Amino acid sequence: MAQVARDQHIAIYIVGGFVRDLLLDRPSLDFDIVVEGDAIALARALSSCYGGRITSHQRFGTAKWRMKDFGFLTSEFGLPADQTTIQNLKPEIDLISARTEFYTHPTALPTVERGSIKLDLHRRDFTINTLALRLDGRHYGDLYDYWGGLTDLRQGLVRVLHSISFVDDPTRMLRAVRFEQRFDFEIEDRTCQLLQEALPLIHRVSGDRLRHELNHILDEPCVCQMIERLAELRLLTAIHPDLTWDAWLCDRVAALPGQFPAPEWGFLAEQGWAAAKRELIYALWVVRLTPERASSVLTRLKVPRHQFDQILEAIALLNDIPRLVGAHPSEIVSRLDGMHPMARFTVYHTLAEEQSRNLIWIYVTRWAKITPTINGNDLQARGLPPGPVYRTILTALRNAWLDGEINTVEAECALLEKLITTSS
Ligand code: CTP
Repeated sequence: MAQVARDQHIAIYIVGGFVRDLLLDRPSLDFDIVVEGDAIALARALSSCYGGRITSHQRFGTAKWRMKDFGFLTSEFGLPADQTTIQNLKPEIDLISARTEFYTHPTALPTVERGSIKLDLHRRDFTINTLALRLDGRHYGDLYDYWGGLTDLRQGLVRVLHSISFVDDPTRMLRAVRFEQRFDFEIEDRTCQLLQEALPLIHRVSGDRLRHELNHILDEPCVCQMIERLAELRLLTAIHPDLTWDAWLCDRVAALPGQFPAPEWGFLAEQGWAAAKRELIYALWVVRLTPERASSVLTRLKVPRHQFDQILEAIALLNDIPRLVGAHPSEIVSRLDGMHPMARFTVYHTLAEEQSRNLIWIYVTRWAKITPTINGNDLQARGLPPGPVYRTILTALRNAWLDGEINTVEAECALLEKLITTSS
C-alpha cells in the first residue's frame, strides 16, 4: 500500500481510532484511511496491484476497496499476522480524500470540500481522535499530531477541538461519555461546560442517530458505568424525561447473561447475542413505565416496530403477573403461549420475587412442552369433521394434562369421549 501510494505521489494516513488505540496499547482493526489527493485514483491503483473490487462516490471523494482477504496488510499496519486477527479483518477498507466539511446549519448533513489532512482532522470530534500515522513511502510511520491529541491521550482527557463541536453534531455528547468511560479518562472541564450548554440541542437529533449512538454504548463492557455517567450529565433526560437510570436498572443490566440463555427460552441465535442483549436493555429501561410513557420513549428513539411491540407485550405481562400467581397452570400457559421470547425473558429478568419468577421459568422448562398425546390426525381418524372444534378439544385435553386433571393416556381417552359427545 505504501509503495502504491508513493508511486502515485499521494500522501496516505491511517487516522482516528486506530492510532489512538495503538498508542493506548489496545490494538484495533478499525482502519480509517485518509488520502491527501484523489482517494478514488489510489483505490483503483491498489486494486490493480492487489486485486479486489472498488466502488466509489465521486461527490465525496471516497472509495470502498472490497477484498476477501486483507491479511497481507497486517504487517503494513503493524498488526500480528495470527489467525484471529486475520479472521476479524473487515472485508472492506474505506479510503477517503482529506476534506473540510461545512455544516450549513447545526445537525444538517455536511457539505464537503477537498482539504488537507490537517483540516480534515480538525473537523473531528475530540483531540484524541485527531492523531494520524503516515503510511506512504519514506514517511511510513511518521506520527502527525496537529491538534494536541498526544498530550490529551497521555493526560487522559476527552477534549473537543472547538467550541461549537457539540453544536455541529450533538451526538458527540454521547461519544464523549463513551470514550471517557471506556478509557477511564475524564471529559476536560471546558468540554464538559460546552456539553452542558449544548444539552438542549439533543432535541434536534433524529431517533435513529440517537439509537445508533446508544447502541454503541450498550455494546461496551462497562455499559452501566457509561449510562450512569450519561444520567449524571443529564444527557438521558435531555433525550427523554422518562429515560432515567437507577440502581434497579443497573443491577438488572449487570445481571444479564454473557450469552444466549438456555435454548428453552426460544431466542433465535441468528440474531446474535449482542443485538438481543441491546433489545433487552431497552426493554428493561422502560418496562416499569405505563404503556403510554414507554411508547413515548420508544417513539423518541424510533425503536423498530417489532421491538416496540415486544416491549409493550412485556409491560402488559408484568402488569398481569399478580393475577397469574396462584392461577391454574392452564391459565398461565394460555397467557404465555404465543408471546415473543424476548418479552417473556424481559419479565423474568425484571421480577425479583421467587414465586413470580418461577411461574415463567416453569412455563419455559415444563408447561410449554406439555401437549396431549392425541392430535388432529387422531380426531380425523375418529371421523370428526375438521373445524374450530379440533382446537377446542385439543386445548381442553392439554389443559387437563397441565392442571393435573388427567395423568394417563387412558384418562385422556376417556376425556376425549366426553368432549366429542358434548361437542356434537
Ligand atoms: N467522528 C466525529 N464525529 C462523530 C462521529 C465520528 O468527528 N459524530 C470522527 C471521529 O474523530 C472518529 C472518526 O470519525 O475518529 C471515525 O468514527 P468512529 O469509527 O465512530 O470512531 P472510533 O474512534 O473509531 O470509535 P470506536 O473506537 O468506538 O470504533
